Order: sequence, then structure tokens, then C-alpha cells
Amino acid sequence: MKKMKLGIVGYGFMGHCDADMLKTFEDIELTAVADINPAQMEDAPEGVETYSSIDEMLDKADIDVVMISTPNPSHLEMVEKCAAAKKHIICEKPAAMTVAQFDRMTEAVKRAGVIFTVHQQRRWDKDYRIMKSVYDQGLLGNVYVIKSQLYGFNGNMHDWHRFPEMGGGMLYDWGVHLIDQILDMVDSPIESLYADLRNVINEKVDDYFKIIMKFQNGIMAEIELGTYYLTPKRAWFIGGDKGSALIDGFAGEGKIVRTAHLLENVPGKITMTAAGPTRSFGPAAPGLLLEEPLPETDAEQRDYFVHFLKAFHGEEEIIVKPEQVRRVLRVMEAVRESAGTGEAVRLEHER
Ligand SMILES: NC(=O)c1ccc[n+]([C@@H]2O[C@H](COP(=O)([O-])OP(=O)(O)OC[C@H]3O[C@@H](n4cnc5c(N)ncnc54)[C@H](O)[C@@H]3O)[C@@H](O)[C@H]2O)c1
Repeated sequence: MKKMKLGIVGYGFMGHCDADMLKTFEDIELTAVADINPAQMEDAPEGVETYSSIDEMLDKADIDVVMISTPNPSHLEMVEKCAAAKKHIICEKPAAMTVAQFDRMTEAVKRAGVIFTVHQQRRWDKDYRIMKSVYDQGLLGNVYVIKSQLYGFNGNMHDWHRFPEMGGGMLYDWGVHLIDQILDMVDSPIESLYADLRNVINEKVDDYFKIIMKFQNGIMAEIELGTYYLTPKRAWFIGGDKGSALIDGFAGEGKIVRTAHLLENVPGKITMTAAGPTRSFGPAAPGLLLEEPLPETDAEQRDYFVHFLKAFHGEEEIIVKPEQVRRVLRVMEAVRESAGTGEAVRLEHER
């Protein structure tokens, strides 16, 4: 089978990460990298050509696909140039700063007839994959709530991530992944959304957000991220009328919990706690709560490229579709609107 030849524009943090990942594929050849800063390319792998601009790379390099890993505001220009040069495109997230920019990108790629997708590789994160499997298999009966939480300790944004005009801040960063995961999981239009977005220790960009999405199927999804939470954690909770599922950690450690029977005649079952007597919130009686293991997964982020390669060879459809990326961007715009007004936003276009 013909090797897929790929060039990376923007050989910084993510450019390097992607190059390392691509080394593990026999059927993908990294032939070129381009960066305006020559120092970034000093450690380019042997045999990989280096270029000082996207124009030069598009003009001279032997490539089928361009991976765009430059800072966010440059993505539109990069996509338009790659499309004009008839190259397939994997763009880093967030693909665009706005929905309007994204629409210009999709027009350009449609005209060119090239593949256009976005690097939402966190759809293959273990923690997410396990929770998606719990949801897809209906293991908890009727789901009413999903919580996705990410807390860190390193609150300071760095480099261009400090500036709003560069697409800095956590909503444009992890926010894109966390929203994408929820929209990929819940098979229903969003009815309304309420969000709060704060700059806790950063002057100009957000480093904390909470987003509450009410879906038409009744599910309430809550995403909370704080870089300065000081209690690092990646956690999930899904609640249904047949049980709960929880995960604590990127590796997906957690459990499903069910009750042996639904409690009846609750007034007789008082338990004493440090905060006084309670009928519902003390420790459960022995044997009432039953634990089960979560489903297993062998998913890994590398699978993103496994699937892209198949799409490149026409063996399957692209998984991260432009219309899904556009939906995430619309949700992000609604998040900013809600955070600005302090009001819930109805997502009429989802109807
Ligand atoms: N998918 C993910 O999980 C993930 C993770 C981190 C970053 N990203 C995304 O990757 C992109 C890059 O982020 P980063 O943290 O690697 O940034 P970075 O600053 O580390 O790297 C960006 C590189 O692009 C180069 N560059 C800037 N303008 C250029 C231009 N016009 N032409 C060519 N090169 C140019 C810079 O010199 C730098 O080497 C962003 O869109 C970011 O959101 C995605």
C-alpha cells in the first residue's frame, strides 16, 4: 500500500508530539516540517526536509497531507493555503477562532475536494472511551446526569496561550476536547446551556469554567475545569436510574455502583452522622451498594491516526467530521455568550 506522506507546519510543542506519534506508523512518512523559527526545527528527524514557511513547504515538499500545528489565529490562512495546493488537512484544535472562520475553511476545502479533519484525539482517551461505552451499552438505565471534571495545579498560562487575540485560555485549549467528548457521547440536540468563565489567576484569559448543557433527551451534562484548583484530578460521573459510574484518573480507574434493592419505608432507616441524623445521606447499610467493574477498552490516542490513514485510503469515512467540529465551535460561542450575560442560552439551531 502507498505510504501516506505528511508535512507538519508549526514544529513546536504539538508538532513535536505528533511527529513522535507518527514515527510509530510504518505506513506514514513524515517528509517535511515548516516553521518560521528555524531553532524549532534543529531537532527535526534525520531525512525530514525543513522549510521556513508553509508556502515553501507546499511548493517544494512531496506531501499528501499537512498537519497544521501553528497557533490558533493562523489556522484559517493555513487551511486556505493547503486546500488551494490540494493537500489533505489535519488541523489542530481549535480549528478556528469562530464559527464564521470555520465556515470559510469548509468552503475552501469543499472547493478543493480534499479531506479536512481536526485533531480531536481525546475521543480515544481511555477515561472517555470507558464512559462512552457505559453510555452506549445503556449499563445505567436512563441516564440523567454526566459530569466531566478536570482540575490542575499549574494555573499560569504560557507563551501565546496568555493572550485572548491568540486564542489563549482554557476554553480554546482543553475546553474544545471536553465539549467534543460530551457531544460525541450524548446522542441528542442541546436545548440550553449555562456557563461561567473566569480568569482566576490569569489577567487576560480564562483558567476556570463550568458549562451546564441540558439536552433534549433530558440529560444534564456538566463540564468543570480549573487549572488553579490545586487538587489535580480527572474525573467522570454518570448517573442513571439503574446505577452510577465513576472514574478517577486518566487511566480510567473506577467502578459501577448499583443498589441491591431500592429502599422502601425510608423513615425507619435513620443513620447518625457528624452533622446529625439523616435518612438518605449517611453510610449505606452493608450489602446495599454493589460494585461492578467498568467496561474495558484498548483505545489509545494513536487510534486517531489509524482511522485517518484508513480514511486517506478510502477505506472508511473520516471520524472527526467538519460538522461536528462546527457544532463544538457553536457551543463555545454560546458558552462565551452565557458567561457574558449571566443567562442561560437556548440553542435554537440545534432543534
Ligand atoms: N490536540 C491537542 O491535544 C493539542 C495539544 C496542544 C496544542 N494543540 C494545538 O496545537 C497548536 C499549536 O500549539 P502549541 O502549544 O504546539 O504551540 P507552540 O507555540 O509550542 O508551537 C507553535 C509553532 O508554530 C510556529 N509558527 C507560528 N506561526 C507560524 C507560521 N505562520 N508558520 C509556520 N510556523 C509558525 C512557532 O514558531 C512554533 O514553533 C494550537 O492550535 C494548539 O491549540 C493541540
